[in-house]
Amino acid sequence: MGNPTHIAFIMDGNGRWAKRRGLERSEGHAKGAQVAEATVRLCADHGIRYVTLFAFSTENWKRPESEVHFLFQLLSEYLLEHTEEMINKGVRIRFMGRMPGLSPALRELIRKIEARSLHCDRLQMILAVNYGGRQEICDGFRKLHEELNTRPPDQKEEILDTLSEGFYRYLYLPDVPAPDLIVRTSGEKRISNCLLWQSAYSELYFTDTLWPDFDERCFDAALKEYSGRKRRFGGLDEQPS
Ligand code: FPP
Repeated sequence: MGNPTHIAFIMDGNGRWAKRRGLERSEGHAKGAQVAEATVRLCADHGIRYVTLFAFSTENWKRPESEVHFLFQLLSEYLLEHTEEMINKGVRIRFMGRMPGLSPALRELIRKIEARSLHCDRLQMILAVNYGGRQEICDGFRKLHEELNTRPPDQKEEILDTLSEGFYRYLYLPDVPAPDLIVRTSGEKRISNCLLWQSAYSELYFTDTLWPDFDERCFDAALKEYSGRKRRFGGLDEQPS
């Protein structure tokens, strides 16, 4: 099997990386942001078309306020520093998550970056921010409910009868294909509310490497493992999702 079209990364282990070095957790996140940037570059070099980075989950608000504040600061700095370069390399930058929960300043930055990079078509980088898979499904149900209210009964029935295939279009980014591969670092073996609907047939790859140590060698190892997997999507032969 060739390279994945879409890889999602659950970037875990920044805190442990810092602790092992006697550093502040924030320093682990700062190193994690550098690794995120390098990873997007690797994806572009390998012809990957979509990369999702799980940057801040709806559950991450439970962390101390100072850490939450630091993570958003880091995200804004990362965007301000790297957007230009990414656009020049053909990277379209998109966001998924509950945008109303973000500060007006960040929302404005996001709006501008999404508009400025709209034409880029080499690679799409999707930053999941204030994102939760369950929340995305619930928000999708809300959209579905609103749409059903505008439809005559026969169309309602048709939408509901085909919902397991059709629900995708109520998700945040319906034009983005489901991830072929989800990589989680730091040894935890769970997907923690990441892309719940989309991950139904994703290949999962877990590595003990902490996110700040995730380098080209680790990236290549994940792709190699993926290339040996047999994807059957519930059938007998490999088929597109
Ligand atoms: C998990 O490590 C990581 C996060 C909750 C945040 C991920 C954020 C980054 C990698 C940096 C910002 C990203 C971008 C794209 C600018 P953890 O803190 O849960 O680590 P631990 O489990 O070892 O404590």
